[in-house]
Amino acid sequence: MKQQFPVSRGGRFATGPAADAAQFSQSVSFDWRLWEQDILGSLAHAAMLHKIGLLTAAEFFEIENALDQIAREITGGRFEWKEELEDVHMNIEAELTRRAPAGAKLHTGRSRNDQIALDMRLWLRDEIIELCGDVRSLQRALLGLGEKNSGVIIPGYTHLQRAQPVYLAHHLLAYIEMLERDCARMADCFSRTNVCPLGSGAIAGSTLALDRNVVAKLLGFVDDNGQPRLSQNSMDAVSDRDFAVEFCAAAALLAVHLSRLAEDVILWASAEFNFIKIADAYTTGSSLMPQKKNPDIAELTRGKTGRVFGNLMALLTLLKGLPMTYNRDLQEDKERLFDSADTVRAASRLMTAMLQNTKINPAACATAAGDPALLATDLADYLVKKGVAFRQAHHVVGAVVALAEKTGKPLNKLTLAQLKSVDKKFSRDALAIFNLQSAMAKRNLTGAPGTKEVAKQLARWRKQLS
Ligand code: ARG
Repeated sequence: MKQQFPVSRGGRFATGPAADAAQFSQSVSFDWRLWEQDILGSLAHAAMLHKIGLLTAAEFFEIENALDQIAREITGGRFEWKEELEDVHMNIEAELTRRAPAGAKLHTGRSRNDQIALDMRLWLRDEIIELCGDVRSLQRALLGLGEKNSGVIIPGYTHLQRAQPVYLAHHLLAYIEMLERDCARMADCFSRTNVCPLGSGAIAGSTLALDRNVVAKLLGFVDDNGQPRLSQNSMDAVSDRDFAVEFCAAAALLAVHLSRLAEDVILWASAEFNFIKIADAYTTGSSLMPQKKNPDIAELTRGKTGRVFGNLMALLTLLKGLPMTYNRDLQEDKERLFDSADTVRAASRLMTAMLQNTKINPAACATAAGDPALLATDLADYLVKKGVAFRQAHHVVGAVVALAEKTGKPLNKLTLAQLKSVDKKFSRDALAIFNLQSAMAKRNLTGAPGTKEVAKQLARWRKQLS
């Protein structure tokens, strides 16, 4: 029998699909990316069919060989993808069957519904591992920058107003912590993605005695003890995409963290801050203003956050009204998933490269961190140590700040007599509060930006990231 249209239509249809309908429903233009997972899944399925006696050794060998050839042609860019064959599954299966008649037995006990769920899980597992590697590199770049500039102090900000001094390293370490939680969320998503749906068929499993454990083990769907992890409900397995939603949600949070880092970089690279200088290779010029050097990598990282959020919303919306079980709507999941993964991976890699090519301007940081007002809280703490209630101390130091403003002096240039005019509790040692180095040495609570504590955190992360 001559095959004129997709194998899924089989003998039931008198005609092929209309050209516009085929064009509308094809997915191979984007799901071809799953070819490797599709072939791996088919090899495992074929090995299992052979083991349970539904494929002879010769048939299995023939299928294995042909799939191997097809894989090599795809890698070499010699495989011709055909939109009229709809998707990655049918493109590969049609070509397999053309070369190896036994290929017609490959789909035994299998549906594209469990096949696509499998391919996506296999793909996402790899992607999560790669992404976490990229995020680790970014953490290392942040750590390296902090270590190289471990003595640099900058103002910490709240409301984008100068608040209290912090080591630059402390600021960078904050992002390392955020990224660590992103990796933990990804690892968590990995564990729920790492479940084998094959054997669920189209919706209701199979009447054939398939060995799901064999397939799961061959494809690495195992727990820490090497025990296979199988989906436990065929309807759930072919119709839910919560693992993809989880990934897109974790990616959205990662994108938030990348975007916040990008925002800091953008501010710091401005003439107003001037804390950093990004290498030419990671900046762009203006077509009009010759003096411009723009932090486009950071801006694009911030800007791309929008599409990552959008992908999450699109997936949630896609799933919310679907009746059980598989519906073709689900085909819309792939571009969203791919885009979120591609975007956060690229942004992580580019932010890493940019930070590796960024220099700190210690002089500008020192000038900004030298603002004595940053230590107003330390002055209140000084009074607390002399027995003044904090609310009272806060009020007194507020009056000192007002006096400094009125007399046009920086806080640390007021005389002892002027301090005493506000509160008798001030004595000679009060002005020593404004020594920045000793101020930093005092902040030694766990998690505080003190000299010892930051060194400890840098050492901890160095060990953890090596
Ligand atoms: N391209 C389809 C998708 O991505 C594969 C599964 C098709 N299944 C079906 N019954 N038409 O969802």
